[in-house]
Amino acid sequence: MSGPDVVATVALSIVLVLGASILLFQGVTGVPPQSSSPNEAADVVALLKHAGLAEQAVVYELGSGWGSLAIALARAFPQAQIRGIEISPLPYWVSRVRTRNIPNVLLRRGSFYDCDLADAQAVTCYLMIKPMPRLAAFLDRMLEPGTPVVSLSFWFRDRQVAASRASSGLLGATALYYWPAMIGSLGRRRG
Ligand SMILES: C[S@@+](CC[C@H](N)C(=O)[O-])C[C@H]1O[C@@H](n2cnc3c(N)ncnc32)[C@H](O)[C@@H]1O
Repeated sequence: MSGPDVVATVALSIVLVLGASILLFQGVTGVPPQSSSPNEAADVVALLKHAGLAEQAVVYELGSGWGSLAIALARAFPQAQIRGIEISPLPYWVSRVRTRNIPNVLLRRGSFYDCDLADAQAVTCYLMIKPMPRLAAFLDRMLEPGTPVVSLSFWFRDRQVAASRASSGLLGATALYYWPAMIGSLGRRRG
């Protein structure tokens, strides 16, 4: 094999392995690494503003994918700390490159179920129908009562929506909850 052939074979192998890793992690989580659009991200920002997000808030972006929503949040809330957690290696590394010059974004690779969200002052997510019940139970254990949670497209069943934006999502509207958002609860308990 000539030098250029070796380079082409190695490059192709890397592309195939990275592509396979996307399918593998999508199989594990049941969630594809689809980015939110600028309009969808604007809905999330609007709902966090509606919730009165503190300027220096710690915001967890659960399943931060290629970084699109984390970047939009960092720009909209420049004093806030945006902490993205992504399990799939290729989106994670691409998002690391995309956010390298954005000081208020911190990205971590792994499952958000293994993370401590005790200092969260807001949570965002854009997942799928299947993980929502497990995520709700996880947030019940993790979050201070009254923490704003914004979910793009996929809603938490049996939880009380505080506000929603129907303007942009291809799959559905974006919803704001004040966690634990139990139906019949007293509602918001944290500013
Ligand atoms: C639809 S994408 C959304 C990406 C990003 N939030 C955005 O709006 O641009 C969902 C991402 O969540 C990730 N994900 C799903 N389950 C996860 C878990 N348990 N821990 C970390 N990431 C997860 C997937 O790998 C995927 O990249």
